[in-house]
Amino acid sequence: MNHILRSQQFDRHALEALFAATDELGRQYDTPEGKSKLRTVCEGKLLFALFYEASSRTRFSFCAAAHHLGMASVQTENAREFSSAAKGETLEDTIRCFCQFDPDVIVLRHHETGGADRAAAVVDSCGYRVPIINAGDGRGQHPTQGLLDLYTIRRECGRIDDLTVVVGGDLANGRTARSLAYLLAKYSGIKLIFLSPKNLGMGEDILAHLEKYAVPFKETEDLDEALADADVLYWTRVQTERGSVNYTLDLTLRRAELARMKSKAVILHPLPRVDEIAKEVDADKRAAYFRQVRNGMLIRMTLLKQLCAA
Ligand code: NCD
Repeated sequence: MNHILRSQQFDRHALEALFAATDELGRQYDTPEGKSKLRTVCEGKLLFALFYEASSRTRFSFCAAAHHLGMASVQTENAREFSSAAKGETLEDTIRCFCQFDPDVIVLRHHETGGADRAAAVVDSCGYRVPIINAGDGRGQHPTQGLLDLYTIRRECGRIDDLTVVVGGDLANGRTARSLAYLLAKYSGIKLIFLSPKNLGMGEDILAHLEKYAVPFKETEDLDEALADADVLYWTRVQTERGSVNYTLDLTLRRAELARMKSKAVILHPLPRVDEIAKEVDADKRAAYFRQVRNGMLIRMTLLKQLCAA
């Protein structure tokens, strides 16, 4: 099945094809005739959004994407409390039961790393034809966020190659930074700067992957130097719900920090932000995080369209 479980499954060719298709879909969506035509593309199809962890953007983005394609969606926002998980049902049994209802796609956010892999394994071993989309698995990955982040970089910078990307925040626990790092490693001339408190540094598995593919990277706590070098600043929040509390570095981006950045730099954030980006930054034209959210819906529409057609 065409599950979307991790960033590594996309090669550069697949990424370029996805981004070109998203450009095309976005142009269509922006015209009234195109928008109403898109409403027929996945007519009669069904999406399940099964979320065991908190989400606003990802869940609504998928459900809005489905709606704009004419696809119905059924969702649970807190499956740990409001699904049979509360009664002790395993994820495997839930997925197996849900497949009996003939969904065309299951979007799954799970609190355990590997949750989406487990769901995909059930689907495959039972012979169901239901793609699983990993919408975040614990500290693991969030591949569709990585795709929309990369698509936003391409749109904002006009390219992905030859960029210095500063990835900052809680890199030990943030899955979006991990998914993006895997994707960026496929491009050439990329330099990665990981900016985080030492105890919240990027995982060894990612660093080993970058070494293997000869992608230059450095780890630093020097905010000023990183800001000056950045073509793209990918800022993330401290994942307090995953136990990240003891950190000393001030990772707040304010107008004063912006003054040290290139005039054409792009600031991204997967959101939600807490206080790591001050509100005063929003008015700066380099702040692209709200445009990034819109791009996310378009990427997800394109993915759903492709999965439903497969
Ligand atoms: C992210 C996540 O859930 O990993 N949110 C999102 O999907 N945009 C980032 C976060 O929660 O910090």
